Amino acid sequence: MLNIGILGATGYAGEELIDILLKHKYARIAYLAAKIDQPDNISSIFPKFKGRIDLVCTEPKLDEIIAKCDLVFLALPHTQSFGIVPKLLKAGKRVIDLSADYRLKDIPVYEKFYKVVHADKDNVKKAVYGLPEFYREEIKAAKLIANPGCYPTAAILATAPVLISGLVEEDCIFIDAKSGVSGAGRRAVNDLMFTEVNENFKAYKVNVHQHMPEIDQELSGVSKKTIKTNFVPHLLPVNRGILETIYFKLKKSADQKQVLDIYKRFYKKEPFVRVLDEGKNPQLKDVVYTNYCDIAVNVDPEKKTLIVVAAIDNLKKGASGQAVQNMNIMHGFAESEGLV
Ligand SMILES: NC(=O)c1ccc[n+]([C@@H]2O[C@H](COP(=O)([O-])OP(=O)(O)OC[C@H]3O[C@@H](n4cnc5c(N)ncnc54)[C@H](OP(=O)(O)O)[C@@H]3O)[C@@H](O)[C@H]2O)c1
Repeated sequence: MLNIGILGATGYAGEELIDILLKHKYARIAYLAAKIDQPDNISSIFPKFKGRIDLVCTEPKLDEIIAKCDLVFLALPHTQSFGIVPKLLKAGKRVIDLSADYRLKDIPVYEKFYKVVHADKDNVKKAVYGLPEFYREEIKAAKLIANPGCYPTAAILATAPVLISGLVEEDCIFIDAKSGVSGAGRRAVNDLMFTEVNENFKAYKVNVHQHMPEIDQELSGVSKKTIKTNFVPHLLPVNRGILETIYFKLKKSADQKQVLDIYKRFYKKEPFVRVLDEGKNPQLKDVVYTNYCDIAVNVDPEKKTLIVVAAIDNLKKGASGQAVQNMNIMHGFAESEGLV
């Protein structure tokens, strides 16, 4: 049994990790922590876990984490991992960090978009970007996983195949992204109140969202070209789910079958990417509460345009599901263990 610690256990991603890991054959939750005033049993904090787990959630205490855990998930707000990751790695633990703190290789870019100083530059170099469809071999041996962001997971999976094929203009990519409210975490913020979100729909952080440089970094890496996307996130009045519509200009004429073949071949062996047949497009209700990413392609040969639509659950493939998928790869478990 692999002994697991979860820091940030009372947040949305932490709660989802507990739920997934309780169904996992080879993982045992050994330690739970959050920024919590009074230690409390996790099944009292989340009554849905009653009868499934009996473990007290406390403030993180490093000695206890090191003594009790083999692998630690950090589901903390950004910057909170800096004080913990170096110590866990030094103690020989494997770490999967769900925050953005180790995702961006370019430190000034991290500091510009997150508006904070980066406090663990050395470990950024060692971190493996945890997108299994692209880095499975590196993930196997990784000590530190930078688990991808939710918007970037859908955007990269939807864009990379056609970008690598060379069929689309690299400087003309528009990502129109929509997320449910749990994407912002369990925080009390005026803009996220029910009365503000319900029956509303709006764009925010247009072309300045912190996930845009992450998407650009990864798409540049896989295509070996400098990619700068145009990224427009929107807030959807639903609890969970991300749907992205991505617009491309084709370099030369191509038809639906040709582009669909590129995607089907690219993801043929992937357990969690489903390329839909012609005429179908992804919808949230097919992916929420699952670890799947559904993708569809729509080509207009006359206009030479391609529109790719992708959908994921922000807390599963966009966060905790993908984190467990990475853990499974790191430890040689079946990749879908706990996830289907
Ligand atoms: N939500 C998503 O869809 C999603 C998707 C991908 C990645 N992520 C990333 O995953 C991380 C967690 O996101 P979330 O949505 O779960 O956030 P959240 O709901 O706000 O939860 C944050 C958790 O961190 C705990 N925490 C905060 N400061 C802490 C500290 N100093 N020491 C120990 N625990 C502390 C909180 O404890 P208290 O409850 O006691 O305050 C809570 O358990 C973030 O970095 C986020 O960007 C989230």
